[in-house]
Amino acid sequence: MKALYDPIEWTNQLVTGVAEIDKQHRFLVDAINDANGKLQGSPDIKLLEQITKDLLSYAIYHFETEEDLMLEYGYKEESAADAELHQKQHREFSAQVIAVRDGLRDGKLISREDLLAFLNGWLVNHIMNTDQRLGIFIRQKRNTATAR
Ligand SMILES: [Fe+2]
Repeated sequence: MKALYDPIEWTNQLVTGVAEIDKQHRFLVDAINDANGKLQGSPDIKLLEQITKDLLSYAIYHFETEEDLMLEYGYKEESAADAELHQKQHREFSAQVIAVRDGLRDGKLISREDLLAFLNGWLVNHIMNTDQRLGIFIRQKRNTATAR
């Protein structure tokens, strides 16, 4: 059986239909799967530091893309609770990665399984639920804009 820390498989359930979001999600999935491969073998604190650092900076860039789209299409005005929850999930993810990084700096190793289970679980769950709702909203806005 597939474990949560196994590489993420890109499926249609992860496609939001918003090209720029999907492109960045694919990059994130590839980056996490690539890290998964690199972390096979004995734990290496330098490698873990590098991976979490790169991942955090890309995640922040990606969250900004989504949050800019929310602003552009007035997500908060029309779906305040969803917009708030969405941004909260982004902040919590960043805070959790920072906590792992702080731990690494103090010499506290995290196992490949624990790190990947967290990253995979968070990303897949966030994309399939929260990002999909945003995707539906943006696609609707774009459709009505072109139909005019
Ligand atoms: Fe998101």
